[in-house]
Amino acid sequence: MPQKKIVILGTGGTIAGVSLPGKSGAYDAAKLSVDDLLKHSPALTAAGLSVVSEQVAQVDSKDMEVAIWQRLLGRSMHWLAQDDVAGLVVTHGTDTLEETAYFLHHVLAPRKPVVFACAMRPADAHDADGPKNLTDAIRVASMAGARGVLAVCAGQVHSALDVQKIHPTRLDAFSSGDAGVLARVEQSGQIFMLRDWPLQDAPLSQRDIQRVVEARVWPRVEIITSHAGADGVMLQALLSATSSKASGPSPLQGVVVAATGNGTVHHRLEAALLQAQSLGVRVAIASRCALGQGATPPKDAKAYALDLPPVKARIALMVELMLTAGSRP
Ligand code: SIN
Repeated sequence: MPQKKIVILGTGGTIAGVSLPGKSGAYDAAKLSVDDLLKHSPALTAAGLSVVSEQVAQVDSKDMEVAIWQRLLGRSMHWLAQDDVAGLVVTHGTDTLEETAYFLHHVLAPRKPVVFACAMRPADAHDADGPKNLTDAIRVASMAGARGVLAVCAGQVHSALDVQKIHPTRLDAFSSGDAGVLARVEQSGQIFMLRDWPLQDAPLSQRDIQRVVEARVWPRVEIITSHAGADGVMLQALLSATSSKASGPSPLQGVVVAATGNGTVHHRLEAALLQAQSLGVRVAIASRCALGQGATPPKDAKAYALDLPPVKARIALMVELMLTAGSRP
């Protein structure tokens, strides 16, 4: 029987980090190559898998850029189209993992698994968590029936739709909130399913996916938080800093409001949002609550609510604006 092929795409992060000599606990992320990481996960070849690796980027994920998302999307499409590839693993920093994973799932909605692996401790720490997370991610990527974009950390398998980093230092830094994890990877390597793999309701067409891969300029969508004392000054500053200077920042096309509670917005900020809408800026409302998404928009604002946390709502709105550019009145 031919071996299953799993492709590992490296992007950096703490999983590829190296400690700084003489500085307890300090390290630089994104130092080791994806090939170096694989040397620490020897169980893989024993599992009868053929593992291929490719370095797509090498960044601390706080510095993630849309150009890297596009490269990752392009390389993911390339590998997923090969019949002998069972799934992909993406090594990634934890800080913006949920954004990259959501972006890939939203755009690609893959029928094969694309599994993000990460770590909270650098690769050379005596108790590094990266090797186990990487091994677990490869196990999930090679599992029959697995599909969609997933993230594996501390023995938990999350859907890209639900995963959020909720803790800055704990090894189990991620949560899937009310939805709960999809599966658990036991110490033995056995995977226990708890619910079904994620699906995308309305996947993009091949033509639209290609437009996202090739887009040279992305619509500017910013996040503004509604909070005690919020007003329209931040929004006005954004509008004036991005208004029609040919060589300056691209114009503001959308705003995601990290709204209070169930989608409520301070009345002064809401007035400014209505004004921005009259200038053609799209407004989306997301809840700033850590759990329980699904904000209802304020009744007067012609904003629409997104059943996503603000950073993911921003991605959905950017993609929508990109794909509807030129087709709106
Ligand atoms: C990063 O996000 O690249 C650094 C932090 C981490 O991976 O935990």
